[in-house]
Amino acid sequence: MVELALPKNSRVQKGRHHPAPAGAKKVKTFRIYRYDPEGTGNPRWDTYEVDVAACGPMVLDVLIHIKNTMDPTLTFRRSCREGVCGSCAMNIGGRNTLACTHGHEEVPGSTCQVSPLPHMPVVKDLVPDLTHFYAQYASIEPWLHTTTPEPQTEWVQSPQDREKLDGLYECILCACCSTSCPSYWWNGDRYLGPATLLHAYRWLVDSRDEATGERLDALEDPFKLYRCHTIMNCAQVCPKGLNPAKAVSEVKKMMAERLV
Ligand code: SF4
Ligand code: SF4
Ligand code: FES
Repeated sequence: MVELALPKNSRVQKGRHHPAPAGAKKVKTFRIYRYDPEGTGNPRWDTYEVDVAACGPMVLDVLIHIKNTMDPTLTFRRSCREGVCGSCAMNIGGRNTLACTHGHEEVPGSTCQVSPLPHMPVVKDLVPDLTHFYAQYASIEPWLHTTTPEPQTEWVQSPQDREKLDGLYECILCACCSTSCPSYWWNGDRYLGPATLLHAYRWLVDSRDEATGERLDALEDPFKLYRCHTIMNCAQVCPKGLNPAKAVSEVKKMMAERLV
């Protein structure tokens, strides 16, 4: 089980129990992390006995059902509900994943535990503060850098060069990988983490980009890149099946090659 993101100096308070509604057909217990910066009695773990026969199969369906029928104060983030926007990333049954694509039946046992992404400040309940994560993403300047005059129509790329972006462009910036990475937990202030480094590599291998040298210069730092120790948590949890660890190692290889 991944360590939780309890706010500093906080002590876990007694949680509240929400019993199953009368006439429930199939009850499953959900243990959910609660934190309200303006409230009292938190952080705490609340339990909800949910009639899963009355809602959809995904954990996000359950959370929406709880909010609509049992506890309107429960706070979480979501948008697309089909694994595209990355908003609903959280820790479910000890694993970082997307609530909208993770079935509650995939979590073994009678209780399903749900908490925010680990080692991040918590805004409220299941909503982590991703300000720093997004600032790190912005720091690699994730857009095309060119010096040649802009073409009249478009920047041409061969199918072979386009293929080099496969396994990279699909990232939805959900942060599941970075918040499962022990190196990011301990050095997240300076280590860019797997998600941002995957995007750094995406621009380094883009045949249309003309700032490869400058991009590598910007990553040449003992903390930004070299804190990855190939633990591979990132690749194991990515809900899009990507391999950020491989991208990190490719960036390190590019660094080494230009020294030769
Ligand atoms: S492989 Fe690197 S980036 Fe991925 S979890 Fe491990 S240390 Fe973090
Ligand atoms: S690499 Fe995967 S886990 Fe990491 S941010 Fe992108 S989609 Fe999410
Ligand atoms: S709601 Fe968009 S990825 Fe889950």
